[in-house]
Amino acid sequence: MENKILIIGGTGKTGSRVAERLNKLNQTVRIGSRSNTPSFDWEDPSTYHEALKGMDRAYITYYPDLAVPGAKEAINTITETALKAGLEKVVLLSGKGEKEAEACEEIVANSGLNYTLVRASWFNQNFSESFFLDPILAGHVTLPMPKAEVPFVDADDIADVVVKVLLDDSYNNKTLTVTGPRKLTFREVIEEISNRTNRNIVFQTISLDKYIKSMKNAGVPDDYVWLIGYLFKEVLGNAENQTISDDIEKILGRKAVDFSEFVEKAAQTGIWNQPVVETL
Ligand SMILES: NC(=O)c1ccc[n+]([C@@H]2O[C@H](COP(=O)([O-])OP(=O)(O)OC[C@H]3O[C@@H](n4cnc5c(N)ncnc54)[C@H](OP(=O)(O)O)[C@@H]3O)[C@@H](O)[C@H]2O)c1
Repeated sequence: MENKILIIGGTGKTGSRVAERLNKLNQTVRIGSRSNTPSFDWEDPSTYHEALKGMDRAYITYYPDLAVPGAKEAINTITETALKAGLEKVVLLSGKGEKEAEACEEIVANSGLNYTLVRASWFNQNFSESFFLDPILAGHVTLPMPKAEVPFVDADDIADVVVKVLLDDSYNNKTLTVTGPRKLTFREVIEEISNRTNRNIVFQTISLDKYIKSMKNAGVPDDYVWLIGYLFKEVLGNAENQTISDDIEKILGRKAVDFSEFVEKAAQTGIWNQPVVETL
């Protein structure tokens, strides 16, 4: 059966992969992002209706994170608009161990729409497509929380799970947790990437306070500094958040991607061997 599916954040790490898979399954996909037409902007609720109009289902990734101030209001408005526009179901990407995101999950659960909540651990792709890529390319990674052991999850696995639950109503009104099969510290992550790429990538630890100060000194906006601090302290700082889940295996009938498999695949693209472009 062909569905019309809106992918909010459809050019991002998980959204682009979900869109690619749905296209291959001959589903009709609309990307919801500022660069698409009609344009969708979380900051401008007047864009929500146009993006949702005519759609049957939606995958929602909120930017930058469901924990930030303003997220609850945006999720409330998008679910009300989706209900009025006649959508049958939404799948929300949430963060594993993010207490602050739970208020947004509740809004979706009480919206009157069918829904599935997908709580994800930190992504492998943060090291290849996001904020940790630049320090890796520079050969010098300095991060707090050296003891945190994280079951990093692969964006390809998240996308496979999201596609499955978007199209399969037996997952309606369920909360799933997606993690990788193995826990790694940041030092172990950088060692694996360094070994595979034959590059000397220096890893240093720093206290969270100093890390936050260095972001402020570098002119990083206050709300972003708050978010990074929250994610490190509240999410990684609590060992109970870092349990491994077997939901990926249960849903997909195969093992979750191991961090080493991710490293191999990403290394083959050459992403970690690009020349560093110096900016003035
Ligand atoms: N990274 C992790 O480790 C991790 C772990 C757990 C959960 N999550 C959750 O993942 C979500 C982010 O998903 P992702 O990593 O797949 O996306 P992403 O790679 O961060 O991509 C961001 C997407 O959002 C769009 N976007 C940015 N600002 C926007 C705005 N103001 N209005 C509308 N669209 C906007 C971008 O497109 P345009 O620029 O074209 O607008 C792009 O499609 C967050 O809610 C985060 O909490 C992340």
